[in-house]
Amino acid sequence: MLVFLVASLMVYRCKADYLLGAGSYDITGPAADVNMMGYANPKQNAAGIHLRLRSRAFIVAEAGNDGNRIAYVSLDACMASQAVTTAVLSKLKTRYGDLYTEKNVALSGIHTHSGPGGYLQYLLYSITSLGFVKQSFDAIVDGAVASITQAHHNLKPGSIFVNEGEILDANINRSPSAYLNNPAEERKRYKYDVDKSMLLLKLVDAQHGPVGTVNWFPVHCTSMNNTNTLVSGDNKGAASRFMEDWFDHRSVKREPSANTSRVRSKTSFVAAFAQTNEGDVSPNTLGAFCGDTNLRCDFNHSTCNGSNELCIARGPGYPDHFASTEIIATRQMESAIELFANAKDLLKGPVNYRQSYVDFTNISIAAQSATTCPAAMGFSFAAGTTDGPGAFDFKQGDTDGNPFWKAVRDLLRKPTEKQVACQSPKPVLLDTGEMLFPYDWAPAILPIQILQVGQLFILSVPSEFTTMAGRRLKDAVKATLVEKSNGKYDKEVRIVISGLTNAYSSYVTTFEEYQIQRYEGASTLYGPHTLSAYIQEFKKLAEALVLDTQVAKGPSPPDLISKQISLLPEVIPDTTPAGIKFGDVSRDVARNASFRAGDSVEATFWSGSPRNNLMTEASYTMVEFQSAPGVWTPAYDDDDWSVQFVWKRPSATIKWKVPKDALAGTYRLRLFGASKALMGKIDNFTGISSEFVIV
Ligand SMILES: *[C@@H]1O[C@H](CO)[C@@H](O)[C@H](O)[C@H]1NC(C)=O
Ligand SMILES: *[C@@H]1O[C@H](CO)[C@@H](O)[C@H](O)[C@H]1NC(C)=O
Ligand SMILES: *[C@@H]1O[C@H](CO)[C@@H](O)[C@H](O)[C@H]1NC(C)=O
Ligand SMILES: *[C@@H]1O[C@H](CO)[C@@H](O)[C@H](O)[C@H]1NC(C)=O
Ligand SMILES: *[C@@H]1O[C@H](CO)[C@@H](O)[C@H](O)[C@H]1NC(C)=O
Ligand SMILES: *[C@@H]1O[C@H](CO)[C@@H](O)[C@H](O)[C@H]1NC(C)=O
Ligand SMILES: *[C@@H]1O[C@H](CO)[C@@H](O)[C@H](O)[C@H]1NC(C)=O
Repeated sequence: MLVFLVASLMVYRCKADYLLGAGSYDITGPAADVNMMGYANPKQNAAGIHLRLRSRAFIVAEAGNDGNRIAYVSLDACMASQAVTTAVLSKLKTRYGDLYTEKNVALSGIHTHSGPGGYLQYLLYSITSLGFVKQSFDAIVDGAVASITQAHHNLKPGSIFVNEGEILDANINRSPSAYLNNPAEERKRYKYDVDKSMLLLKLVDAQHGPVGTVNWFPVHCTSMNNTNTLVSGDNKGAASRFMEDWFDHRSVKREPSANTSRVRSKTSFVAAFAQTNEGDVSPNTLGAFCGDTNLRCDFNHSTCNGSNELCIARGPGYPDHFASTEIIATRQMESAIELFANAKDLLKGPVNYRQSYVDFTNISIAAQSATTCPAAMGFSFAAGTTDGPGAFDFKQGDTDGNPFWKAVRDLLRKPTEKQVACQSPKPVLLDTGEMLFPYDWAPAILPIQILQVGQLFILSVPSEFTTMAGRRLKDAVKATLVEKSNGKYDKEVRIVISGLTNAYSSYVTTFEEYQIQRYEGASTLYGPHTLSAYIQEFKKLAEALVLDTQVAKGPSPPDLISKQISLLPEVIPDTTPAGIKFGDVSRDVARNASFRAGDSVEATFWSGSPRNNLMTEASYTMVEFQSAPGVWTPAYDDDDWSVQFVWKRPSATIKWKVPKDALAGTYRLRLFGASKALMGKIDNFTGISSEFVIV
């Protein structure tokens, strides 16, 4: 018996194929005043919190001290940013020397359109945020480093299981007219015009069981529309939170630790819903309709009677975008749980990587005797998409441009004839690649990377690939791996694209989709052959991985941090009328009322700006439960679906929608905040509502 036990223990031990670690840290940033990244809607400025944003990190190392390792990080941010990546790597170097570098670290954004902007270094991406926002930048950099550090300290022997399955009702193509321009024979190979497959990894500690999971499923995080002002991880951020709660079987949430600091235990399970080839993929599954007539928008141009502004896509919970977010999050979460529960295929084999920097503005593509061009945005870029249309009279599918805007453009910069020819048929609206004042408007040098764990290959792209562009890249890399490895890698190889990773450079469509010039084509920066350039350069990385050769390092991307312009005004001093203190209740919960599941409880407090204290790894809000006479236990906070924190100078409102599983009993709402005095001193305060009863 003992022998059997020891033997089976040893078998269990031997199953530890890798060292694994997971980590997670708050990256919410400034939840006030800052323009949200994604829709480029100047009116969409943060004014509170729907869900906190997190950085979720996973490290996989070969067993043994000198083995290779990779760090994969999924950020609840709109995208990765070269500036953030540079800063994160530099901090990691200080801590760990050459353990984590540009070669083996991947930072990927989930693409939420409801996070604070201003953390990218190229000018085009920080126009609506009024330039660089240091608080946004620091929150992401510090949180990413903290999550990687946690994962590093958590490294223990374990195994990784992989599973794949379909989700049929969580995404649709938002530019089907462009997809239809791909060759018919190619389209025939696929059942859908978007990828429906979710690929999931399950990380299991040999001693303690599952420590985390990461999956990739293509869908824009645009369930929350461009009127939302509450910071949120949208459908993927919510799915992460839901799955982490599912794993922890929580009803009344965390144990109290300190009154403002919410401490997740070191062994907390980390569930990342990472982004992949979502370029033309919308979560708004009912499709696009005209707001005035309720008719379908024009198929080719997504216009309503000639104009784009009224053509808006609808999510499954229309007209309530919270409901749409919850539905698309739940569909992803339920599939992930099923894949997680049934994951049986083990990853086995080396941990490896190849990375290089490539100047995308002038790549010769031998196979097509073509070249890429300096970056440029087409007219249809300004039309936006059906997930969030742009202003003025731009429309998608525009290969001509309009003379008025051409004149305006020429004031900024008139594109050269060579550039116009190179980018054709894209009519150039913004010649960003040749606009260098006051600093570069668009990137030229981009990082590309392959991370390998056994038979899984993760392709890190610094952009948003459309469905078919992603398929072509994956096929090309797979063909190279199979061909060059002499049968070592066969059809069992699994390839996944990690979207919006390490840097950001807008979209990548196929050559055929580019001809149609929908939003995605107009935002494909380096001309019609951009995808071919990616494929050519990724094949070099794949070949080097298999043949164990090195790749050229390539030119270094510029560090533009010192040149950044910041025009976002400082927080003005906070004040209250005489006799009133910060934290005093200005509108209390309904007195002596009792509430039940589904009811909303609200209280409003005199408050200072959330930018005075970001409450990182803590919370502005707390729903407290009376667990014994006079003992108040934190039950729900900023990061709970049921709680909303809404800021509108000079007040903060806590809104709590009583969830189904809330315990009956006595509760109160509590606010944590900070105020700025005339001379700039920051003071913390707290405020408490009256008690109320849940029956
Ligand atoms: C936190 O709790 C401690 C004691 O438990 C108390 O002294 C302190 O004032 C509290 N801080 C806030 C901001 O409520
Ligand atoms: C869309 O454009 C294509 C190509 O120009 C054309 O054949 C088709 O009829 C258009 N469809 C609609 C619904 O307008
Ligand atoms: C389209 O616009 C024209 C001219 O502005 C107007 O007469 C017509 O009623 C509009 N049609 C719809 C469906 O809105
Ligand atoms: C955006 O979402 C809000 C909140 O759910 C909703 O009231 C509004 O109608 C939505 N806007 C559009 C254009 O769907
Ligand atoms: C583009 O690259 C080619 C070599 O591949 C070089 O001859 C040419 O000068 C480059 N053009 C620019 C504008 O840098
Ligand atoms: C609330 O209820 C308690 C006991 O049920 C009572 O003593 C108190 O007067 C009530 N307060 C108000 C404002 O009605
Ligand atoms: C306010 O709280 C923050 C943490 O949330 C802390 O770092 C800071 O020192 C506090 N300020 C004061 C004046 O106590």
